[in-house]
Amino acid sequence: MLTETRPSCDTDVWSEWLLHYRQADDEDYGKAVQAAVAEYADRVIAGAQLEPGMTLVDVGSGEGLIAFRAIGRIGESLNVILTDISAPMLRYAENAARERDCVDQCTFIECPADDLSSIPTASVDVVTTRSVLAYVQDKPAALREFYRILKPGGRISIAEPILQDEALYARVLRMRVEAPSAQPPDRFLELLHRWKAAQFPDTEEVCLKSSHVNYTERILFRNVVDSGFAEGHMELHINSKRAQITSWKQFIGCSPHPWAPPLSFILAEKFSAEERQLFEQVLRPSIESGEHISTDRMVYITGRKPGFDTKHAAN
Ligand SMILES: C[S@@+](CC[C@H](N)C(=O)[O-])C[C@H]1O[C@@H](n2cnc3c(N)ncnc32)[C@H](O)[C@@H]1O
Repeated sequence: MLTETRPSCDTDVWSEWLLHYRQADDEDYGKAVQAAVAEYADRVIAGAQLEPGMTLVDVGSGEGLIAFRAIGRIGESLNVILTDISAPMLRYAENAARERDCVDQCTFIECPADDLSSIPTASVDVVTTRSVLAYVQDKPAALREFYRILKPGGRISIAEPILQDEALYARVLRMRVEAPSAQPPDRFLELLHRWKAAQFPDTEEVCLKSSHVNYTERILFRNVVDSGFAEGHMELHINSKRAQITSWKQFIGCSPHPWAPPLSFILAEKFSAEERQLFEQVLRPSIESGEHISTDRMVYITGRKPGFDTKHAAN
């Protein structure tokens, strides 16, 4: 269990995912996940253009991934405000900051991304966020808050997953399963649909209401520009590769996002014993052979609040 070596804390849906289901509670796979998220975080930090003496706000800070990597890069002159709606994750990050001996340069605030009212207007140099806006219903409101707390010339740097294709896949499976021509029924396809529909919305109506699948990279970029940011830049990175998981236990133990149950739960709760057997018989060999392909879609956006940039004025 990864948590045995980590600071203890209470749990919620966010901490359960970040500390357990994201890596199937498996130490080896956990290392691979940490290496992957470190790459995302480093891109966000590069886009932030941090300098000594700055104040950075990391919204939805989770374990403190961006905060601690930024401190590692800039050193003790960087002040970091970590905000999160998850009290367990804030406590976790605070314990981690103590262990890393950087707690004195960190402030922890429990608040939603779209209400940063305890941070004064025009008081910070940089706002970062990674894989957080996906779970925020009112994304423009959050971006307006980022804009408000930034000093003129301050920067935002964000990275968000684009999960629409996963929901589209669930919708296509539903249509194929429900098609009148699907006779005799394809039993494996039905099970595949049951799995995917338990993790992603599979109707247009629910997709439109679901904050994690109802946006594209272009909509997010438009939200950033409409919030007043100038010099906006967007990069969409799509990478397909052989999945790192080749163990069935890891495969069924992890979940793709905090609101999705792991496949092991779905198999236990939504499948009969006979269905589980059929499903495993078909899918397991492709996982264990290492042929399973996973595709990752991440958008990176940076922007600058217009106005006098004190940082560059000194140079
Ligand atoms: C997928 S995790 C990402 C954590 C971290 N940003 C990282 O890069 O590792 C999502 C984080 O966003 C937080 N979160 C979810 N909804 C939020 C909201 N509406 N406002 C602020 N934080 C939120 C969760 O508690 C969790 O820590």
